[in-house]
Amino acid sequence: MSDKVYRVCEPFLNGNETKYVMDAVSTGWISSSGAYVNKFEEAFSSYCGVKHGIAVCNGTVALHLAMAALGIGKGDEVIIPSFTMIATAFAVCYTGAVPVFVDADKDTWNIDVKKIEEKITSKTKAIIPVHVFGNPCDMSAICDIAKRHNLFIVEDAAEAHGATYKGRKVGSFSDIACFSFFANKNVTTGEGGMCVTDDDRYDKLCRYYKNVCFNPDGPRDYMHQDIGFNYRMSNIHAAIGFAQTEKADEYKKMRMGNHALYKKYLSDVPGVLFQKDEQDSENVGWMNTIVIDPDKYGRTRDELIAHLKDNNIDTRLLFKSMHIQPSLIKYGCDCSGGYPVTEWLSENGFYLPSASDLTEEDIAHICSVIKDFAR
Ligand SMILES: Cc1ncc(COP(=O)(O)O)c(C=O)c1O
Repeated sequence: MSDKVYRVCEPFLNGNETKYVMDAVSTGWISSSGAYVNKFEEAFSSYCGVKHGIAVCNGTVALHLAMAALGIGKGDEVIIPSFTMIATAFAVCYTGAVPVFVDADKDTWNIDVKKIEEKITSKTKAIIPVHVFGNPCDMSAICDIAKRHNLFIVEDAAEAHGATYKGRKVGSFSDIACFSFFANKNVTTGEGGMCVTDDDRYDKLCRYYKNVCFNPDGPRDYMHQDIGFNYRMSNIHAAIGFAQTEKADEYKKMRMGNHALYKKYLSDVPGVLFQKDEQDSENVGWMNTIVIDPDKYGRTRDELIAHLKDNNIDTRLLFKSMHIQPSLIKYGCDCSGGYPVTEWLSENGFYLPSASDLTEEDIAHICSVIKDFAR
């Protein structure tokens, strides 16, 4: 057995990160006022093909900031997928609004667009599609629904840096889109996030709210007209983000390459299922996720996870459905009804090692352990 330990994901920092961070530190610009914040905002928003970028301290607050800038609040409902990371739901709750859940599509694992309209009421104000694991949602269908019902769209693109749908980057299909730069993301700042928008008003509002509603145009007179948040990103984090954005396409290629290799090596193993790419899109393969059909594979998901652990291969479970979260039940969300696809994913799926710099040899080894364990 190989001694190597295969972690689920480690950051890949092979560009100008150290140089830019040292520059920030040695010049004393370590708060959010330093030049790397603007550089990162400009570089990343233009990478997405969007006019403005507003850097913040993580992806969760990026989503909250977007909700605040759009005026979402008490009495409103916001449609989100039941299969997502909890931050999507919490961002809605922070405003006093209520998240309403829609099950995942069994092939793409993204929000099931056929089930969105049945959840729309007179209180619905927005839809938050999540590009799950880097797979773009069916944005044509979602934009049509939003237009018909006069709803905002906020893309949760936390996992999908550089992914494209019909030739356009995700982040460019919504009123405001939100990214996370957590350490496992294809582009990282350690902790960090960004809102991107083409709309000058939302840009201004996001900047206003993220900086405790200091008067954006006038003198710093410590008079605050609204309740704001301190969601600023430091220049040190932005220095890392700027260096990472310089190489964003390289990292995207590496992750997509890994994704293709996992599919190649596991394609003939019965009972190992992959997410299907959305039509006309480019899935950036943020996390390599498989679902086990125990009848065909001959072992359960949990037996396979234990076996991989014995072979020094780390894995992670998938999100649990929003409708069973005690926090959201206590908050008063409607948690009745069934979410069978989400439940199937969380009961049978898991992440495999997915760092950008995995080699083909690494992936071939991991896949052979999975293959040899099938019965
Ligand atoms: C879909 C989704 N939304 C939001 C977030 C929140 O981002 P962060 O961890 O940077 O707060 C994540 C984090 O991974 C995520 O996967």
